[in-house]
Amino acid sequence: MIDYEILLKKAKEAAENAYTPYSKFKVGACVLGANGNMYTGCNFENASYGLSICAERNAIGTAVASGERRIIAIAIYSPNMGNCTPCGACRQVIYEFRSDNGTIVITEENGNIIVHTIEELLPEGFIL
Ligand code: THU
Repeated sequence: MIDYEILLKKAKEAAENAYTPYSKFKVGACVLGANGNMYTGCNFENASYGLSICAERNAIGTAVASGERRIIAIAIYSPNMGNCTPCGACRQVIYEFRSDNGTIVITEENGNIIVHTIEELLPEGFIL
């Protein structure tokens, strides 16, 4: 049983560390790995705007660096927007590390938890 509330809480906490001097748009993410561990990330921007990294990819990078390869679920939160779903690039990165039993993407709007599978958000994602 996936605890959506805990994952969203950790995503919210991570969003507080977002480095967003350019967009002012803060995002936090929390990955639940197949090993049961959780990994958080926030977005961090750069004066060369295109180098900015999304919260989702930051959290996934931390998971991978810890040896995790399978994402059971990922929660995403922005204090600046309800239902902050992952951008197209992050959907593809989530897809790369999807779990055999389906990867769950969790967002929130007005206190309501919204749940999708990565296949819903990225039909026919690219694989090699
Ligand atoms: N951003 C994320 O971190 N995740 C998303 O799902 C959408 C966009 C970041 C990138 C940039 O730092 C800021 O939000 C505005 O696009």
